[in-house]
Amino acid sequence: MCGIVGYIGSRVATPVLVEGLHRLEYRGYDSAGVAVLRRGRITVTKAAGRVRDLRERLAESAPSPATVGIAHTRWATHGEPSDRNAHPHLDAEGRIAVVHNGIIENAEQLRAKLVADGVELVSETDTEALAHLIAAELATAPSLEDAVRAALRGVEGTYGLVVLDRTRPDELVVARNGSPIVLGVGDGEMFVASDVAALVHHTQRVVFLDDGELATVSAGAYRTSTLDSRRTSKEPTTVDLVADDYELGGHSDFMRKEMYEQPEAIARALRGRLDERFATAHLGGLGLDPMALRAVKRVKFLGCGSAYYAGQMGATLVEELARIPADAEPASEFRYRNPVVDPDALYVAISQSGETLDTLAAVQELRRKGGLVIGAVNVVGSAIARECGSGVFLHAGPEVSVASTKALTNMTVSFAMLALLLGRVRDLSAAAGQRIVTGLRALPERVDEILAGESEVERIAKRFAHARHMFFLGRVRGWPVAREGAQKLKEISYVHAEAYQSAELKHGPLALIDAEMPSVVIVPEDELLAKNIGTIEQIRARGGPVIAVTNADLPDGLADEVIRVPRGEPELDPILLTVPLQLLAYHTATALGRDIDKPRNLAKSVTVE
Ligand code: F6R
Repeated sequence: MCGIVGYIGSRVATPVLVEGLHRLEYRGYDSAGVAVLRRGRITVTKAAGRVRDLRERLAESAPSPATVGIAHTRWATHGEPSDRNAHPHLDAEGRIAVVHNGIIENAEQLRAKLVADGVELVSETDTEALAHLIAAELATAPSLEDAVRAALRGVEGTYGLVVLDRTRPDELVVARNGSPIVLGVGDGEMFVASDVAALVHHTQRVVFLDDGELATVSAGAYRTSTLDSRRTSKEPTTVDLVADDYELGGHSDFMRKEMYEQPEAIARALRGRLDERFATAHLGGLGLDPMALRAVKRVKFLGCGSAYYAGQMGATLVEELARIPADAEPASEFRYRNPVVDPDALYVAISQSGETLDTLAAVQELRRKGGLVIGAVNVVGSAIARECGSGVFLHAGPEVSVASTKALTNMTVSFAMLALLLGRVRDLSAAAGQRIVTGLRALPERVDEILAGESEVERIAKRFAHARHMFFLGRVRGWPVAREGAQKLKEISYVHAEAYQSAELKHGPLALIDAEMPSVVIVPEDELLAKNIGTIEQIRARGGPVIAVTNADLPDGLADEVIRVPRGEPELDPILLTVPLQLLAYHTATALGRDIDKPRNLAKSVTVE
């Protein structure tokens, strides 16, 4: 949600800024804008809609040779998506331009005060208030940085922002509190962004700002300080991401690319972390020695959406392998219900982006109450990774498609390693541990085999693409798989999909079964096989079509369609059973002509409540 790009250097700024916005499109937005500064004048161009609409708007006037500017993609929170509400926003004199991610919580009070002071507000946004406040502070502040600092003292809420002052063409001031800001260090030029995706085709040397930090950025330098005026010292780090990670590379869309990257992503997550000799896993980033691991009496996984379902898979793995109680809860519910924080529990905050506000708030609540919380995060340097301080990085590589695939898979793979580690410091035998290690090592090849069966899943998806509703059913290991399958289908195809525990079907939802209601039933080869076969029979007896997703040998003719998955270690079945459901959702959405990577109303990073 929302994206920021800034540039200062010797290149013409507009193309750099617009290209940067294009690279942030995947995050989700509904308007875009750019402001450039030249000869004491700030020129702002905005457009509701896509970055291509902004490009068209820019093409209507002569290109500016300005070499400094800021740009933004906006996901509407205060006020509708419109040219007027799009960023950048200016103060009354057109001296200050601001782009801002996050939400100013006391915006109403700030706006009311500005109006009372005679300021005419032209937008409905919280951000416009910032431009006026900073401009007012400039009357007395010795520098732009001081003016920004002073203005932010009266601001409550979250922000990542960049400020341009028409009287200071040689600097940008940026600030961060709760919304990421990263500086890209070039050769005689500097970039600013809310996401490294906008920078990596220019530079891999980056500086992540911390919450409560500001920076003044010029073409050849930067200096950082805190909101209370203490200097901070930040060395650039090198990110191992390259521009190709954000390119389609011959694929039709990012979801397909990312599904096919799964074998490689799993191998990366496992690299250096499996120990054959002691039949365990090494997760050095946890910062927990065997005694601390043994002291854990309970594990709770927290995440939102698919990350929550991955947490549910993780909880099952922990209970099975380590025999300690474990569960998962949506981070959003956790943060709002004044949770009882168990001093003997290990809390795991799960997030691909590392930016999801509800998950971040759950971590903050836990830390405030003295809970032991670690992160399971994909994006290094992200807010949740930093807030947790320790954990397990997912190493899935950048995930661009809104629908999570490889990151979710790597979450579950990481939880299998965590469960193995927790099990091996307890009673999981070396032989059982070795079985899991071998099963994990085999996963990339197994996922390859599933992907090789894509055309069969495509055929099945096309057969049922007309359905307006679908059930996804599973028991125990299959239950979070069913939930994730339903989630994938609804988010990219807009087909109503509902997940149920198989045994609950007969307590109500069975009434919905008829020829127009297909059910996807998850059937792992485990001790519940006979029960799952019974579920399929109950549905078919009522005329409901069934697609079975299984690694078991089912009786001939049991289901209308069977999607076969290779066998692995039973505890790891959820990882493999999830993959064909991605393909099913993908091909249903394709058959219905949906925009795969940018489903309507959704954003990749949900940084608002
Ligand atoms: C579904 C999906 C979302 C995310 C959720 C959490 O495919 O992508 O449900 O899983 O918004 O996002 P992260 O993992 O970035 O915290």
